[in-house]
Amino acid sequence: MKSKSKIFITRIIHDDALNLLYSHALQESWEVKIWPHPLPPTREELIHEARGAHALLTMITDKIDKPLLALLPELKIISNHAVGVDNIDLKAASEQAVAVGNTPDVLTAATAELGLLLTMALLRNLPFALDKAKTNQWRTWGPLLDLTVQLGDMSPADSPPLFGIYGLGRIGQSLGRMLSLGLKANVAYTNTRGPVTNLEYPAKWLSPQELISKADVLIVTCPSNRSTSGLFNKTTLSCMKKGAYFVNISRGDLHDEEALLQLLEANHLAGVALDVTNPEPATLGRNPLLSHPRALITPHIGSATTNARRHMGILAVQNIISYLKSNGLPHPAPFTP
Ligand code: GLV
Repeated sequence: MKSKSKIFITRIIHDDALNLLYSHALQESWEVKIWPHPLPPTREELIHEARGAHALLTMITDKIDKPLLALLPELKIISNHAVGVDNIDLKAASEQAVAVGNTPDVLTAATAELGLLLTMALLRNLPFALDKAKTNQWRTWGPLLDLTVQLGDMSPADSPPLFGIYGLGRIGQSLGRMLSLGLKANVAYTNTRGPVTNLEYPAKWLSPQELISKADVLIVTCPSNRSTSGLFNKTTLSCMKKGAYFVNISRGDLHDEEALLQLLEANHLAGVALDVTNPEPATLGRNPLLSHPRALITPHIGSATTNARRHMGILAVQNIISYLKSNGLPHPAPFTP
């Protein structure tokens, strides 16, 4: 496998990552091909470009399913330039003995920061305030004007909002820390492993059902997989408190957008903030949430900092270098068959 291994990268990634790969490719006579366009390859283009590849460096926009894998018998490793690997059929990959790697940790802070930003912007109604200033509607300061929701540092008598973090993985934990220690907010969480014993900030564990029904602000940070996809449907979302807020920074398939819209319009939900939609990209006309005054949508930019993307590129490349050289995978994607 050492010489003439073929690598296909489905998008231009950070220079430092490419240079690292090229330095090894030169020594090992690997062939590196990169999709040079700003938009991802279509399925046909992906199949065409990936044929004969031993390694693929993929993005979340590349759907790697069983039929596609079957067309790539030489494939040994897929390195996903993301922490989430829901774009890859992990079972099919494992059946075909294709290793799958991801890029954990390095995007945790960036994504948690975006979660905090969206949550604050939603509760403090930032779009309204920006619009008010921009459209010359700022007439005066008033003691009862523009009132919104304070996030933290409130006395219990003032009923501080409860932030419910759904999924206490790396990103959920980091966001919980920012809320709990940074803002002195009231934080609860749920996760599949039960209460975390050594959590370094105050936050109480609730069962998934309790968290959904008790949170004033529900923040989804769990991965998308067979047991979570479609979890936030009409039934579940209807269990949320009247006047609660829903935030999703994980994957769009976790929530039902029609249900979110209905609950917003019925004033059951006070606001929705999504960094992820279903489908992506969300487009005006097809996704009414985009123009809803109480919905805040960003275009899947959780990890979009130069620092995070540089490190993600390097980790993704390291997975390939290590696997092609020694069958080692420094960052294997978690997979439970
Ligand atoms: C981005 O959404 C990622 O999973 O890395």
